[in-house]
Amino acid sequence: MFSKVYSAAIHGIDALIVSVEADVSDGLPIFDMVGYLGSEVKEARERVRIALKNSGFMLPAKRITVNLSPADVRKEGTAFDLPVAIAILVAFGHLPEEYLKDTLIVGELSLNGNVNKVNGVLPIVYSAREQGFLRCVVPAENVGEGAVVSGIKTYGVASLSEAVELLRGNGSKLPGEVDVKQLFAHNNKEDLVDFGEVAGQIAAKRAIEIAVSGMHNILMIGPPGSGKTMLAKRIPTIMPELSFEESIEISKIYSIAGLMEQKALISRRPFRSPHHTITTTALVGGGGVPKPGEISLAHHGVLFLDELPEFQKNTIEVLRQPLEEKSVTIARLNASYKYPAGFMLVAAMNPCSCGYYPDRNRCNCSVNLVKRYLGRISQPLLDRFDIFIEALQMNYKELQLQEKQESSQEIRERVAAARKLQLERYQDQNIYFNSQLTPRMIKKYCKLDAREQSLLEEAFIKMNLSARAYHRILKVARTIADLDQSERITTKHISEAICYRSMDQKYWDN
Ligand SMILES: Nc1ncnc2c1ncn2[C@@H]1O[C@H](COP(=O)(O)OP(=O)(O)OP(=O)(O)O)[C@@H](O)[C@H]1O
Ligand SMILES: [Mg+2]
Ligand SMILES: [Zn+2]
Repeated sequence: MFSKVYSAAIHGIDALIVSVEADVSDGLPIFDMVGYLGSEVKEARERVRIALKNSGFMLPAKRITVNLSPADVRKEGTAFDLPVAIAILVAFGHLPEEYLKDTLIVGELSLNGNVNKVNGVLPIVYSAREQGFLRCVVPAENVGEGAVVSGIKTYGVASLSEAVELLRGNGSKLPGEVDVKQLFAHNNKEDLVDFGEVAGQIAAKRAIEIAVSGMHNILMIGPPGSGKTMLAKRIPTIMPELSFEESIEISKIYSIAGLMEQKALISRRPFRSPHHTITTTALVGGGGVPKPGEISLAHHGVLFLDELPEFQKNTIEVLRQPLEEKSVTIARLNASYKYPAGFMLVAAMNPCSCGYYPDRNRCNCSVNLVKRYLGRISQPLLDRFDIFIEALQMNYKELQLQEKQESSQEIRERVAAARKLQLERYQDQNIYFNSQLTPRMIKKYCKLDAREQSLLEEAFIKMNLSARAYHRILKVARTIADLDQSERITTKHISEAICYRSMDQKYWDN
């Protein structure tokens, strides 16, 4: 007897349909699995055999061959256990094959026959719907992710027997349901932190507002306790609200990474702050069963690298390409995967190992020591930051000041207005933000009148700026003008943009 069951394999952030064929024939009782399988898939044999036995299915001693196709797609992970078990039951005549028509199945099996959660259910159900399937059978723990997709029924099962009952049409199991729009509208509203809680730091807040408006990467430098981490954590709260499409895109990434935690949808802008001991793979993605890394988990949100000089140098250097391309490609032996990585990079650091340079009352670090510390950040990486700010330590009086601080909501409205101008201006350019302007576009969109021109020229000579710095000042000035709702870039905008450059001059003298 021969049978065919449908399942899916994750590829990048999408899923490909995989067919699981089982054949039973007379001969030695051997269980073979073929079809370009990763090691966990090969181990499915043992799990499936024992799970079937422990679920009460006695199989005659026959030769079983399972083939997963297409042959050129590598199958990884444990999600094929359940479809393999079902295919075998069909091949032995325990389940009629017509019950499996239009059905896609994923799930990991425990030896006792329980169905465990798997990664990637959201993109899998999406692909199933696109391919015309009518229902999906997924682990009970993942049912919420599948239920987000409309136009296809997603059933959650907790055990192999439950799956069999469902497929036989017995029982009264209903498909999972979530009111996506309501869930989205609700979650999207509440943030856990707010800029209103940050006393003072007017200059830093202003710089952050500009950075978010143009999606400029920002580096904060300052002594311990000056509020760098506190400021960074609040950056997602002034980004425009997530659109539903963005939310789905992020949720797919979290689903594949196995980070949904029973949520149906990720509806807040991500804020990821990996520790400086992170490995390159965890940061950019990859691994045995390929998974998105922190840079993809930060897609549409913020990647915060606190204590930037403490990160492994080569780990940080691999960020350079994704920062340009807004995606990352993981090359494997026979395949390559692409994950989105459109994040805003926010980094924080102390200026020296004690943290207090240039405050010579507190910092005893030698000039060479300071130089060496700052030198851990390479020039090409420094070049990826458009805005540098100093977070200065607040004194007691400033912290005590009771005056009301601006809320995230108020700042967010200005950011949204500046973003709108950019979207309109660049609608034919295939870019969204000022930070993405190429030198050619800068010529077109950041035109300066004579006065502005001479101001910038003067700074250029006095500060000995590089061509890169010159372009960056213009991009940031463009964003400052947009926040001002001004099409023209004026001297005021230029001089503020120059300020955000002088910081790296001060510390790195370049
Ligand atoms: N402007 C501020 N308003 C209110 N509280 C502040 C402010 N700045 C700092 N704090 C308080 O000080 C604490 C330490 O700030 P934070 O951890 O952000 O400092 P940091 O600059 O990241 O320091 P480090 O360099 O040691 O990482 C905050 O948790 C907060 O309670
Ligand atoms: Mg900190
Ligand atoms: Zn020091």
